[in-house]
Amino acid sequence: MGGTQMDANDDIRKREHLGSRLGFILLSAGCAIGLGNVWRFPYITGQNGGATFVLVYLVFLVMFGVPIMSMEFAVGRASQRSAARSFQVLAPAGTRWGAFGWFAMAGNCLLMMFYTTISGWMLAYLVKTARGDFVGATPGEIDAAFGALTGDGVQCVCWMLVVCAIGFSICRCGLQQGVERVAKVLMVALLLVMVALAVRSVTLPGAGAGLRFYLMPSLDGIRERGLWSVVYDAMGQAFFTLSLGIGSMAIFGSYLKKDRSLFGESVSITVLDTFVAIVSGLIIFPACFAYDTAPGAGPGLIFLTLPNIFAGMPGGRLWGTLFFVFMFFAAISTVIAVFENIVAFGMDLAGWGRKASVAAGMVAVPLLSLPCALGFNLWSGVQPMGAGSTILDLEDFVVSNNLLPLGSLVYLLFCLHGKGWGWGNFLAEVDAGRGLRFPARLLPYYKYVLPLLILAVFVFGYVERLAG
Ligand code: ALA
Repeated sequence: MGGTQMDANDDIRKREHLGSRLGFILLSAGCAIGLGNVWRFPYITGQNGGATFVLVYLVFLVMFGVPIMSMEFAVGRASQRSAARSFQVLAPAGTRWGAFGWFAMAGNCLLMMFYTTISGWMLAYLVKTARGDFVGATPGEIDAAFGALTGDGVQCVCWMLVVCAIGFSICRCGLQQGVERVAKVLMVALLLVMVALAVRSVTLPGAGAGLRFYLMPSLDGIRERGLWSVVYDAMGQAFFTLSLGIGSMAIFGSYLKKDRSLFGESVSITVLDTFVAIVSGLIIFPACFAYDTAPGAGPGLIFLTLPNIFAGMPGGRLWGTLFFVFMFFAAISTVIAVFENIVAFGMDLAGWGRKASVAAGMVAVPLLSLPCALGFNLWSGVQPMGAGSTILDLEDFVVSNNLLPLGSLVYLLFCLHGKGWGWGNFLAEVDAGRGLRFPARLLPYYKYVLPLLILAVFVFGYVERLAG
């Protein structure tokens, strides 16, 4: 190990820590629960034919998600560093694991490069819906409103800047006073709003067809898209929803003391995240079918279809506003959590104070977010993934289907192999404290099956995408 036990104890004393276990769970859940659950999960499920995709996705969460999240937390807690330096601290001297820090930094920044723009759209729609812009609007007017927002570079950039300003201001207030406190309030409010919305949606006349599409498995999606595409999308979604592979979660491990074991915490966070994703589907699909709108509409699903639903629904302005409050809270909780990583990179790597690091982030992230914000208007001619695609599609593809699975593979190898941190060190860390033990008897699965599974799905998914 790079550092001595005394250094590690010293680091634990010096590093900022979260105020409570609830704060840790809700903050980590806030990082996990985001656009992945409320925007990406419903539209990808819609495109992949519904319930069968959901089943494959759940299998990936259990097979990949929980063990790899435990590994991230363990690496974070043992090193007491963000992903920028955690591998360097824990790896044996003379190895190159430390280079992963750059990969992790790139991953967190790339994630935010498109996340800030979509979160900005959520905020814009929250304001529009609350103002009553969609009351009585026709489908044509609703289509035009989305086109007008995304087609206007100034608006896209301004909303993106507001999101960056909110996120970094909260990080500037400190770990406990800013990030942890706000995450707790947001998550509790989000859970309450979503339950109210789901009850409203599943009791709409005609909601049954949506529930069948969403909950009754059929082979339609596999027939239409091909088995590997469905599996590939489900894997990408499982990594995306848990923010795994780029150290986004690891940092919250670095703010923890050793009183709770990490496997149990990972299970709780995954359950919360899955609950939010499943309930998002319960909000969106019954409403789509009740108002005869297409569930496979793609990334514009919630912006193009949902306002139609609220426009025609009694009390639609109130329900619509609540819906976009829900969307925005989910998005901003992830923004805050990932910004905290970006701020920590400055603190861990350059030794800056929190305020200086926030200032650097407030310059860098908006600049990096410009290509996505302008990719729907000024730079719409850039279609990197084929005709009609956008810069957003490329950034999402690079993160979800490449950096997250490959980064997860690195965490796995680092924790399992003697040339990395090693199984013994990992197990001692993950099991330190009270709570569920890591299922160590599955070592052969982690060692021989899981890495190959990740690689196989990754490679076959690429082959299918290139062929298609
Ligand atoms: N885990 C984050 C989300 O689901 C990235 O939105």
